[in-house]
Parts: sequence; structure tokens; C-alpha cells
Amino acid sequence: MISKIKKILNKKNKSKIICLTAYSKNFAEAIDPYSDIILVGDSLGSVLYNYNSTREVTLNKMIDHAKSARLGIKNSLMIVDMPYRTYTNKRMALKNAKIIMKKTKCDGVKLEGGLSISRIIEHLIKNKIPVMGHLGILPQKEKGKFKSKGKNPRQKKKMLNDAKMLQNIGVFSIVLECVEKTLSKEITNILKIPTIGIGSSYHCDGQVLVLDDLIGLNETKIKFVKKFGDIKKDIQLAVKRFRKDVLNKKYPRKKHSY
Ligand code: KIV
Repeated sequence: MISKIKKILNKKNKSKIICLTAYSKNFAEAIDPYSDIILVGDSLGSVLYNYNSTREVTLNKMIDHAKSARLGIKNSLMIVDMPYRTYTNKRMALKNAKIIMKKTKCDGVKLEGGLSISRIIEHLIKNKIPVMGHLGILPQKEKGKFKSKGKNPRQKKKMLNDAKMLQNIGVFSIVLECVEKTLSKEITNILKIPTIGIGSSYHCDGQVLVLDDLIGLNETKIKFVKKFGDIKKDIQLAVKRFRKDVLNKKYPRKKHSY
């Protein structure tokens, strides 16, 4: 049987790759038929817990959310973010990656960074942990506004080299976050592995968004987010109907009672 990672690799230059975040079972189950990759991202720190940065997200928090998401995922490739300070050296990274893989039954992990963590990523891959890379804006390293990356020649050269290096050491795909569009195009064209863009233009092989942003559950003004639905309104409509029926003694009826 063709592995889930192979399926993702085979999409390069054929069909765009759909990647979405999910932090729990019901959301994962809802998006599983329409996603290729489901990412349990450490963005859950800001989206669910209002943390100022993803640095506050712990390993246990990621594992709990990933275990819940796992229950809803049948078809998509499931990737879990390794949180801040859980991969500062090779030994620690492998120990924590193995814990994540074993406890959550995910298909791989994502780590943020290029050359500075190349030995760590290489060590994980040598030990059979599938790794997704992440270049451009690295939320674990930098706080603040989403600014385009790779505009100046020095940044551009470094990111190109980082991308090629990540491919050479064996990552199966790279997230490009807020990468300037001519650079994301160049990286995507040069690499044999797929790039997954977020704020990095249509040139990438796939796109990822935070689910809560695209369904309108999480209010955000980030430039790259497009709101594709308004689930908050739907929730409020249902709750208003419930409230009305309860106040008017129309719910529960006999059939809803024991
Ligand atoms: O944490 C996250 O959700 C991510 C994606 C936005 C790429 O890293």
C-alpha cells in the first residue's frame, strides 16, 4: 500500500495540497475528507488559549490536543508541531519526537528553522521520524507582526540554501510562512518535495490555514487569511433558537424526556 507521505510527494506538480489545522476530534473529523494533511499546530496557543506567543505551548498540551484530533482523522496525514524548547538538542528532540509519535499516533512532526537545527532534524529522520520543515516567519522565534520574509538578497539566499538543505537531509515537505512570492516560486520550482504556503502566494504546491480563521471562529486581521465561512454566526443562530425554545417551554418535549 502506498504510504500517506508518498501520496503527498506524488501530488507535486499534479495537484495542489490541502493542509489545515485541527486541535480536537470533532473539527478533525469534519475536515478529514477534504484535507491531505491535518496539522495539530502550536498556533493553538494563540487561537485557543490567548497566549502572546507559541512559546508558552507545552509538550503535554500538544499531546492532549493531538490525541483528541487523532480520533477524528482517518485519511489525512497527521502532523504535530514540536513545541518551543522541546528540540534544543539531538537527544532531547528524539526523545520528545518519539513521545509525540507514540502517544498521539501521528504520522510525523514539524520543526521550525533551517541550518541552525539541521543536525537535529537529520537525527530525527535517521531515526525514522518523518519531518516537515518550516521556513519564513518562525513564530517560535519571533513575536509580533506578520512581515514578509525573503525580500532582501541576504535573506533570500539564506532561505534558498535552507530549503535545499532541508530537502537534502530528508524532510518530506516544507511550510513557507509569509515568504515573498518570487522567492516562494523559486523555492517551489527548485525543490522536488512539496512546499506548503501560508501567506506565501499561489506558487506553493499546497496551502495551509488555521481552520478557526477560515471558518470565522477566530477573529483575525492577518493579511493572508480569507474567511470562507462564518461558523460563529451559525453557532449563535442555533443557540438563539435553543434559548427561545427553552424560554417558551417548547424544548424539551415529551420525546426528548425520559
Ligand atoms: O502552528 C501552526 O498552526 C502552523 C501553521 C499555521 C503552519 O505552524
